[in-house]
Amino acid sequence: MSFSSIYRTHHCNELGSEHLGQSVRLSGWVNSSRNLGGLIFIDLRDREGITQLFIDPELSPELAAKAKEIREEWVLAVAGTVRARPPEMINSSRKTGAIELELTELEILNRAKAMPYHLEDPSSSEDLRLKYRYLDMRRSGLLDNLRLRHKVSKIIRDVFDANGFIEVETPILSKSTPEGARDYLVPSRVHPGCFYALPQAPQQYKQLLMVGGAEKYFQIARCFRDEDLRADRQPEFTQVDLEMSFVEQDQIIDIVEQLLSAVMENVLNIEVPRPFRRMTWKEAMCKYGSDKPDLRFALELQDISDIFKHSQFKAFSSALEQGGVIMALKAEGQAQNCSRKMLDQFTETARLYGAKGLVWLKVEVDMSLSGSAAKFIGDEERAELLRQLQANGGDLILIVADTWKVACESLGRVRIQLAEFAGLIREKEFNFLWVTEFPLLEWDEDNQRFAAVHHPFTSPMDEDRQLLQSKPGEVRAKAYDIVLNGVELGGGSIRIHNPELQAQMFNCLGISDQEAQLLFGHILEAFSFGAPPHGGLAIGLDRLVMLLSGAKSIRDVIAFPKTTKASCLMSNSPSVVNPTQLAELGLRLATPAQNPEDS
Ligand code: AMO
Repeated sequence: MSFSSIYRTHHCNELGSEHLGQSVRLSGWVNSSRNLGGLIFIDLRDREGITQLFIDPELSPELAAKAKEIREEWVLAVAGTVRARPPEMINSSRKTGAIELELTELEILNRAKAMPYHLEDPSSSEDLRLKYRYLDMRRSGLLDNLRLRHKVSKIIRDVFDANGFIEVETPILSKSTPEGARDYLVPSRVHPGCFYALPQAPQQYKQLLMVGGAEKYFQIARCFRDEDLRADRQPEFTQVDLEMSFVEQDQIIDIVEQLLSAVMENVLNIEVPRPFRRMTWKEAMCKYGSDKPDLRFALELQDISDIFKHSQFKAFSSALEQGGVIMALKAEGQAQNCSRKMLDQFTETARLYGAKGLVWLKVEVDMSLSGSAAKFIGDEERAELLRQLQANGGDLILIVADTWKVACESLGRVRIQLAEFAGLIREKEFNFLWVTEFPLLEWDEDNQRFAAVHHPFTSPMDEDRQLLQSKPGEVRAKAYDIVLNGVELGGGSIRIHNPELQAQMFNCLGISDQEAQLLFGHILEAFSFGAPPHGGLAIGLDRLVMLLSGAKSIRDVIAFPKTTKASCLMSNSPSVVNPTQLAELGLRLATPAQNPEDS
């Protein structure tokens, strides 16, 4: 067989002392090349690792002449003999560090232009790395994350398969529905003026699959949402989506725990105790000020409203008069550590989440209080506060008085900031938590009506059904979220399959029969043909892989992500299109096109 017909006998991570004297072939990219005292060394890299190549110009002058030309990232195919490195040249930090390949053949398969930036420089800008994503992939560890992602998907598919689930693909060109985030729309050429929507989730299709009798469905599904982007949000992302018929919440929770513990065990070799901890939404909000609490640290919020029932302090008394609460957070031993600047940052955070301010108190050694509002706190109140919080000299107390929601949420954010500042987070821990019993409806101030917290097909809890008319805001849903280390990993619910209950739900949402038909006619019709009881959940695959890999953003686990402005710097999308394309679609621009690069 000629040399050029075979590129490799091994990968660049494979060769070791056991291969000494063997003739092998390798192919890959030049990671670096050095000329040391006349001897030429090249580090050749492929997907798996690096092998050092060696050329002695005296023995192989032709190879040496060729090698001198070589630059970083050129593509080579080589053949040679594995030999031991001299003891002082052994690199114990590299798998192949005990050997090198003495070349007998060298073929330059391709040359490369000078790199646009130093590929291993951690300070190179993210924009540049996104523009040259394929180069970033070569050295940054991104490929490791993509392999991890592949492994996670494979384990998930295996667990589903073993449990009788079938994977079904659902349409990408689908129908716009009013719930959730903004849709990405796709104009139809065949039906001018009509649009498909890209699916925000396969929600309706998976429910229709249950009507069709699929019973156990899953899909590793692409979803599209036009919403404000953050470290854990991309405009297109992937869900591990599942739906089951003839089940209740516990069976869905069980399969998700199976999936996640199999992933943890096979990917990180960590056994996660099951069942995972569960907490109601109310408890999560009251204790941690979040519907996705990070339980890798212990700080808990406490309601101290009762202590300040007769407070002279305006901020406290007016919050209580308006039906609000006073919530406190005690940080043990942090009074001295927290500078004024840090306290200002906590206050800033509380304000960002709606609080009017943040009261901070330091407990002195003699158990007196100092701080922003100490002078407004009477002796009895002080004693009771210290008793309830079990506070000691040196502790810091942070307080927000506001509506229940604002007080909990803003102090919940401060809780996280405080834990980061004080180094309280057990970084190596994977802390799974189920948050259950979410509210079914929330008041929408803008539209002066109730809106579904999840979507209008989420079932209320049986015991709360009678509150649907009288106290809709108090109805709890059969909805549950899976949380990992303070990140909402996934969410789901048991759906409504009973037409009367569905009608009642639309009524609560202020959706008339006519509107319901217009918006959800196809699904309501399907439900009228005998829908089984069903429910499901979707896990954000990008978020899961991000947490497993220790990445800070889901961008780091997506091959070709978008920027926070929803554009792709590599392919320059979205882009202006040709006027004939618009004409074909029956579209005309109302405002001049704005290239993302110019904005
Ligand atoms: P939900 O809207 O809660 O539920 O989404 C489920 C999970 O998807 C992930 N996710 C995202 N990941 C990255 N970027 C985004 N923009 C983004 N939006 C959501 C999160 C989230 O927990 N159909 C329901 C599920 C169900 O009821 O079965 C749904 O989509 O990890």
